Amino acid sequence: MSVVDALLRHDVLLCLGCGGSGKTTTAAALALAAARAGGRAVVLTIDPARRLADALGVDALADTPRAIALEGGATFDAMVLDPALGWDRLVARYASDEALRARVLANRFYQRMSRGFAGSHELLAVEQLGALLETRRYDLVVVDTPPAAHALDFVDAPRHVLELLQRRLLRWAFLPYRAGAAASARWRGLRPLLGRLEQAVGVTALGDVADFLAAMALLARPLRARADAVYKLLRRDRCARLLVCEASERGLQHAQRFTDELARARAAPTHVLLNRAAPALQRALLAAADIGAELAALPSDDDALGDTLRAEGLDPRVPARWLAGVYRHELATGIRELAATRRLSAAAPPAAQLALVTQLEQEPCSLPQLERFAHAITDVPR
Ligand SMILES: Nc1ncnc2c1ncn2[C@@H]1O[C@H](COP(=O)(O)OP(=O)(O)OP(=O)(O)O)[C@@H](O)[C@H]1O
Ligand SMILES: [Mg+2]
Repeated sequence: MSVVDALLRHDVLLCLGCGGSGKTTTAAALALAAARAGGRAVVLTIDPARRLADALGVDALADTPRAIALEGGATFDAMVLDPALGWDRLVARYASDEALRARVLANRFYQRMSRGFAGSHELLAVEQLGALLETRRYDLVVVDTPPAAHALDFVDAPRHVLELLQRRLLRWAFLPYRAGAAASARWRGLRPLLGRLEQAVGVTALGDVADFLAAMALLARPLRARADAVYKLLRRDRCARLLVCEASERGLQHAQRFTDELARARAAPTHVLLNRAAPALQRALLAAADIGAELAALPSDDDALGDTLRAEGLDPRVPARWLAGVYRHELATGIRELAATRRLSAAAPPAAQLALVTQLEQEPCSLPQLERFAHAITDVPR
């Protein structure tokens, strides 16, 4: 079964990877492919490029699923995660008490924090994934993830954030708020901490901080339940974990580190997509071309090599030596990329499937271009 077909047989498809590797593009293209295959799919994107967001009909002010119609009648849903709106909805959902809810939403500290503290995106994406699955409207939920320096930022961050929320210090900090003057000694002890928090967000009223902590304490229990459920869900068989990596030496090294981290968290990638694969790497992986032998067999004289390359129909105005240099460089780079791909392949679980996409002429920012991207995904034998 092709990698794309295999991916579409899951009910959750998580696109993981380093910043800029192509996660958002891949997530959107695969939701589109699922729609073409007749499935009910939704893609949850995070901070898509402007033009892609336009093509998907989503914007930051509408973080609910929108239907995207493809030529021929198939549709899929897309939505974008908006941190601020997501938090507000979360507070609305879990705050039992109307007065507290209003106070939290008006809280300046909360307003700053909810627009981007570390792990905030991940926590919200997890919450949103849970909410989308609960609707039972979809055969496949494709989840894009925020750019991450570490693989675990997504698969484990929700739990870390919750731990942070529940850390004793914060619970302790919350006490004075409820206990009033009786806890003033503790309150004084907290001043340096609160001062630093205030500095970080540029808010001066201590009451705002106390309110914020009160809200977090309130949200911690339902959020933890959700995060625990999603933690398990991301490790089930029906969840595909697709590692998207740039097929450059550096990108492949990062991907190998990601793979190791994910494996340690019992969430090893089930599929790997090598994005923007250069022609030499592509030939080596798909056509078993021996690019090492090709490099060794090249004429040592640059003029002769350049003339040979020109005979292939390249622009005669380009200097022969320059052509020869570029060609040698491409092959040498391809050899190193091939070695890095082999190392990554060895680090991935034996059952993980590999695929590649080449650098496309246009950035895939429209529906037809996304469809082209999905079609360009080619299986790589391991
Ligand atoms: N195979 C490809 N060919 C051409 N352009 C590509 C390809 N893959 C991705 N791109 C372009 O590269 C840019 C980065 O891709 P994308 O936004 O999908 O990456 P990302 O991993 O989501 O980035 P971030 O980590 O910043 O969220 C986009 O402009 C996208 O159109
Ligand atoms: Mg992205």
